[in-house]
Amino acid sequence: MYILGIETSCDETSAAVLHNNELLSLIISNQTVHQQYGGVVPELASRAHQQNIVPVVEMALRKAGISKQQLNAIAFTLGPGLPGSLMVGVSFAKSLAWALQIPIITVDHLHAHILVHFITESGKTKDLPSFPLLALVVSGGHTLFVRMEDHLTLKTIGKTIDDAAGEVFDKAAKMLNLPYPGGPVIDKHASQGNPFAFTFAKPKVNNFDFSFSGLKTSILYFLRDKLKEDPTFIDDNLADLCASIQHTIVEILLDKIHLALQQTKLKTFLLAGGVAANSYLRKRLTNYCAENNIRLYLPEPIFTTDNGAMIAIAGYYKYLKNDFAPLDVTPYASGKLIF
Ligand code: KG4
Ligand code: ZN
Repeated sequence: MYILGIETSCDETSAAVLHNNELLSLIISNQTVHQQYGGVVPELASRAHQQNIVPVVEMALRKAGISKQQLNAIAFTLGPGLPGSLMVGVSFAKSLAWALQIPIITVDHLHAHILVHFITESGKTKDLPSFPLLALVVSGGHTLFVRMEDHLTLKTIGKTIDDAAGEVFDKAAKMLNLPYPGGPVIDKHASQGNPFAFTFAKPKVNNFDFSFSGLKTSILYFLRDKLKEDPTFIDDNLADLCASIQHTIVEILLDKIHLALQQTKLKTFLLAGGVAANSYLRKRLTNYCAENNIRLYLPEPIFTTDNGAMIAIAGYYKYLKNDFAPLDVTPYASGKLIF
């Protein structure tokens, strides 16, 4: 079975082809236009998707070595995401599927982030996670705990009540005059800094929920006060600031992961989403899981950010259940998780 996966929910235009659960090709076109604005500009994202979608899909098919007539289904992100961006992928996927007379499969972006752990690659041996398990999606728009009974049976057990973890990386980077997206840049500078140089407020939130808006405000006020005393404070302390901010975010995540694993008694943990690329989080989690006898699955860096392969693998599991969608489906911006 050949499945094309299309992802256009935010600022990456991506397409991938899977043969069953094996990856044949993955093309990701990053939109650099947003860098000058310090964040994603929805209207520009939508326009860039329109420019990229045809060449990205063509390239994915060419690299996979198949023609579009060989496709069995087209899977695409239905939501959550930016409406104008989603619309480009959704309309394109529907039109192509209609022309080829093949079924469409709608995919939830967050569900797809988790399922990257089930993609196999030719020539690479992979140990696939077994169920039940706990998964955490940490991205620019979401921080979500999910309990999974199988590939398609998921239950949200906690989420952020305000900002996402990635958003703190991005907003903190902006306050430190660093470029967008902030996560990779903070990660890089942090490797030269002291994580205990500065302390920031950690939130008190019940259960398995997260909150990051207080930390964002605490960084803002801290920098404002320090800059009043010393205008070169940021430049003089950049590495320590990055390391301390990163440390606080990771501590908040680890506290909740510990609580969730303890209370659910689950022994398998999956990390997913853009922030899963963070080297400090990966290191701390690896140590924590080794000490606590938890089977940890970290995604390869290429699969952490938004990509078409995660959409295609979700499509694969839905195809096996004949879970196809009608051509009149419409995207959803937020909230509505389809599991
Ligand atoms: O999953 P993703 O590509 O998009 C969303 O669905 O939101 O995640 C993007 C987020 C951004 O906030 C970016 O700053 C963050 O992932 N990110 C990182 C790193 N690489 C990307 N955050 C921390 N450390 C990184 N190395
Ligand atoms: Zn994402």
